Amino acid sequence: MTKKSKIPNGKISEAGFRKGLTSYGDKDFSLFLRKAFIKGAGYTNSALDRPVIGIINTGSAYNPCHGNMPQLIEAVKRGILLAGGLPMDFPTISIHESFAAPTSMYLRNLMSMDTEEMLRAQPMDAVVMIGGCDKTVPAQLMGAASANLPAIQLITGSMLTGSHRSERVGACTDCRRYWAKFRADEIDEQEIDEVNDKLVASVGTCSVMGTASTMACIVEALGMTVPGGASPPAVTSDRMRIAEETGARAVQMAKDGLTIDKILTSDAFENAMRVLLAIGGSTNGIVHLAAIAGRMGLEIDLNALDQMGNETPVLLDLKPSGDHYMENFHDAGGMATLFRELKPLLKLNALTVTGRTLGEEIEAAGPGFKQDVVREFNNPIYPRGSIAVLHGNLAPGGAIIKQSAANERLMEHEGRAVVFENSEDLIQRIDSPDLDVTADDILVLKNIGPKGAPGMPEAGYIPIPMKLSRAGIKDIVRVSDGRMSGTAFGTIVLHVTPESAIGGPLAHVRNGDRIRLSVKNREISLLISDEELIKRSKEHPIKEPSADRGYLKLFLDTVTQADQGVDFDFLRAAKMIGKTPKK
Ligand code: FES
Repeated sequence: MTKKSKIPNGKISEAGFRKGLTSYGDKDFSLFLRKAFIKGAGYTNSALDRPVIGIINTGSAYNPCHGNMPQLIEAVKRGILLAGGLPMDFPTISIHESFAAPTSMYLRNLMSMDTEEMLRAQPMDAVVMIGGCDKTVPAQLMGAASANLPAIQLITGSMLTGSHRSERVGACTDCRRYWAKFRADEIDEQEIDEVNDKLVASVGTCSVMGTASTMACIVEALGMTVPGGASPPAVTSDRMRIAEETGARAVQMAKDGLTIDKILTSDAFENAMRVLLAIGGSTNGIVHLAAIAGRMGLEIDLNALDQMGNETPVLLDLKPSGDHYMENFHDAGGMATLFRELKPLLKLNALTVTGRTLGEEIEAAGPGFKQDVVREFNNPIYPRGSIAVLHGNLAPGGAIIKQSAANERLMEHEGRAVVFENSEDLIQRIDSPDLDVTADDILVLKNIGPKGAPGMPEAGYIPIPMKLSRAGIKDIVRVSDGRMSGTAFGTIVLHVTPESAIGGPLAHVRNGDRIRLSVKNREISLLISDEELIKRSKEHPIKEPSADRGYLKLFLDTVTQADQGVDFDFLRAAKMIGKTPKK
């Protein structure tokens, strides 16, 4: 028999602060103690009877992309209070691209575990997750998907663009462009220092269609933000009003029991894949989508993604595939404008955090207006989807190329392999005047996959060898098992699976081998016989990386390959229920 509660107003129930009581063997005492502590922080009984809304605070001095966190939290709290909830902000890990070694991707799964467990451990009826920089949003979605409570995403928003000698600049496509000019001796040390001051003009996430912007758009396509939540820049009043609205919405989601499994459905993932292709999104988007879907028991069907690319043109004219920046996309109406163009291809019945469907939200957004950032469907900036999926004996588990940011001339190319065994080897030799390389060769970098580096760093954007860049060469075919930043561009084959560190065929490529890339035929092949490949693998058996202790051991023992999102195997859903999109 349940013991009768002796606490005034203290009915044991499964909501608010009565949820998830600490184990002392006496539930009434657990609640009594919890209330004593929260009252010690100045809260009254009336506050304690409201729905509790957690707010994940990822503010950190190491994360300028989240530099507006205090203002966002204030606005979210205001929204929660106005809607009758009790806001409770709490910290989790925060990861920034430039302040995480060896690479931010190494820590994404740790952040997702932190998020999942704190959502489980602490009493809350819904959660607002504030993220923005590349790995933070996927980590939060992965964690919330596994914790399965009402959850809503708030994006920190993009940074403003700057001006260098009257030329508009923004991180990070222009960072790479200016660095390439510096390497090619086209600008001097003084100018590269000057431009360094201008590239990041405010707090917020990178201002082009890099991974952060890609994930912001994907989150809205998944139905995980309030309408219009993807595009407002970090320092605008639009962003703060989105934050207030997000807080209020979270309260209603708590009351309605709108848990994340009702939103992250196969249809939602299909919409996200469609949007990824149409925005010229970062190749990292597909890795993160695979990881988030894996938490819901769904496998991303890469071949279906490739097929979708045939009918989904790139419509968004943003760098690196186009010319504009995120603030222009926001001025052009943001995701509502894109959804309007893509409407015939979207799953309109997918539910969103508003409790309405994506189709209803598109209707509610009203008619479009004249703008030049989102192209009309029949006048795209690139006729096919941004990402193509490649197969062949070099990548039996698949590889990808961002065709919209590649060089048309090099997409059908056969060349001699110039091989680098790992990142250190690359650093040692890439700029050597003695490097035997021509513009027709194919650069191959091994051991930058999930286990190889470890953490699959964004080193797939292999620099053009100094002797070629000084001769004016701007692009060369590059192949690796790593990733590249969404802000990068070039004819670059990435995510070669299985990776070289676990004995994938990439491990056995030698200098002078011939490689064929045919984006038209979706092919990446090493032009040697099967017998020769087997012979090489026997001659040089691969010893997989390992560690004795700590997070590195957990990582190396359990990380999956790119096609499964580089998630830890034990964090994926216990039972996989199918592929997405559905056939
Ligand atoms: Fe944070 Fe680019 S470094 S979004």
